[in-house]
Amino acid sequence: MSPRRGGRRRVVVTAGPTRERIDPVRYLSNDSSGIMGFAIAEAAVAAGDEVTLIAGPVGLPTPRGARRVDVESAREMQAALREAFKECDALFMAAAVCDFRPKRCFRGKWRKKEAGQERASLELVPNPDILSSLTRRKGDRLVVGFALETGDGLRRAKSKLEKKRMDYVVLNGPSALNSSKTSVTILGRDGSQRCLADRTKRAVAKVLVGLPAPGEAR
Ligand code: CTP
Repeated sequence: MSPRRGGRRRVVVTAGPTRERIDPVRYLSNDSSGIMGFAIAEAAVAAGDEVTLIAGPVGLPTPRGARRVDVESAREMQAALREAFKECDALFMAAAVCDFRPKRCFRGKWRKKEAGQERASLELVPNPDILSSLTRRKGDRLVVGFALETGDGLRRAKSKLEKKRMDYVVLNGPSALNSSKTSVTILGRDGSQRCLADRTKRAVAKVLVGLPAPGEAR
């Protein structure tokens, strides 16, 4: 990691869904709006951080003062992050990365006659786990990930915190998708647990941006 420029914390934020192409006009994706990640980028700029926002396909305006890199697929997001992560002090991984992508992307439209008249199936292959690939060389960076869970996700979120070597995981539910409000539980590697119920994503973003890095006093 190179030294901070001018003493400012260098923050990378990912936001929005990824889009995995089937053919030139169709894709697999999810309902992520990008609002949470964009709110984090905005809060980080307001806190004086130097911010790079790596965004999947969303129609949101770039927060003033943030450098934006637009990507489409999980693999593009991984490539953009590879360099940005090396140079950062903190990563907020709010993107809803598609776990799978079609094995092949058709060059022309996927026609009925190729797909089958009665039934069609699409072969999927796993995408890389971007966060896990980065945190192998985490150093003393602050890494905050998200866990979108249905039902009681506490146990699963804790397991993601460990497995993906995050410092904090932000547990939220599907009602957060496409909404300006959310309810989250922030779980820390230090065993801390903080619930923020029915808050605006802007308010949650402010709390996240203020989380201490590993070894940093609160
Ligand atoms: N993530 C990632 N790369 C992936 C999938 C997820 O970097 N291929 C990140 C997300 O950005 C998030 C965290 O890992 O910060 C947890 O994502 P989530 O979708 O909740 O977990 P998954 O590992 O995809 O597990 P599952 O969907 O099976 O619950």
